[in-house]
Amino acid sequence: MRVSLEQAIAELKKGEVVAIPTETVYGLAADATNDAALKKIFTTKQRPADHPLIVHISDIREVKDWVTDFPELAVNLAKAFWPGALTLVLPAKPHVSRVVRGDEPTVALRVPNHPMALALLKQSGLSVAAPSANLFTQLSPTTAAHVEAGLGDAIPVLDGGACNVGIESTIVSVTPDGQWQLLRPGMISEAEIVKIAGMPQRVKIDSAVHNETQVTPKAPGQHALHYSPRTPLSLYQDRTALLAACNVLQNKNKSCAVLLIGAGVAPDCKVINLPNQPEKVAEQLYSALHALDALKVDRLLVELPPASAEWMAVLDRLTRAGHQ
Ligand code: TXA
Ligand code: MG
Repeated sequence: MRVSLEQAIAELKKGEVVAIPTETVYGLAADATNDAALKKIFTTKQRPADHPLIVHISDIREVKDWVTDFPELAVNLAKAFWPGALTLVLPAKPHVSRVVRGDEPTVALRVPNHPMALALLKQSGLSVAAPSANLFTQLSPTTAAHVEAGLGDAIPVLDGGACNVGIESTIVSVTPDGQWQLLRPGMISEAEIVKIAGMPQRVKIDSAVHNETQVTPKAPGQHALHYSPRTPLSLYQDRTALLAACNVLQNKNKSCAVLLIGAGVAPDCKVINLPNQPEKVAEQLYSALHALDALKVDRLLVELPPASAEWMAVLDRLTRAGHQ
């Protein structure tokens, strides 16, 4: 159900959930200070309760309301990238809802760079917690129609057009000792963060040797099988292998659909061809996967981009989407 900005604000103030546009993906928003409203996010998404939510604020000046520490490095990152597709994980003030934090001692904050999201936050005076507006483990939505297809018509949706970043924000944790760690890659790259932070991220500690005494930040809810279409999906490092796999399927009378990156030979089936540029692929990735999934073929075959730094976020999402 599409709603106006005023209706969206009224619903949020009543303690209801509303799907809102951001520049990354659509979020399923609720008042970040209302536990009953926040719980509706989890029930609507069928999401496990220990997965923390990102709080969306309208301005960097609001950070102090949520955190006990705003280290200089984090201030610099916020100044450089907000409003934008960067989420900062910082030590939470004790009053911050445990539902938002998923019982973590930290809270994730972001100022989204979408005019409607910013208008909603400013006009309502609310901060909203919003995970992606899809069912748990399914593809994130980048249009209002994706939200409706995934969550049903009963959910109020503020239609802000297609998201132009297209994949979820980069998540960076900053600890009071001034160190940082990349918790989820996104279109703001590790190299861009290093440039502003002035130092590399804290060396990752292998989870196998992780113990309770180490203060290693973590991103709960980063499941291997995330962002998945319903159709089984296979990933291919090169076009030749993909074409061969397509032939094998067709010889067995199985239907397939294909996602290609860049020009070149295409197989004789439904093909979506994305331009060979990381920003363009990110912007169109979920839309393409939603469209291919809707074909209800036996298998989706997806060509992987090269494993270079500029493709890190796209590769991360594709790898999580891929399953046999
Ligand atoms: O671009 C985005 O970030 C979108 C839009 C709507 O803003 N939101 C989004 O939310 O991707 P979601 O729920 O799908 O992902 C949030 C992730 C969690 O799964 C978790 O990994 C991390 O953010 N996170 C949130 N709070 C955290 C915390 N306190 N500590 C560590 N990780 C946290
Ligand atoms: Mg999500």
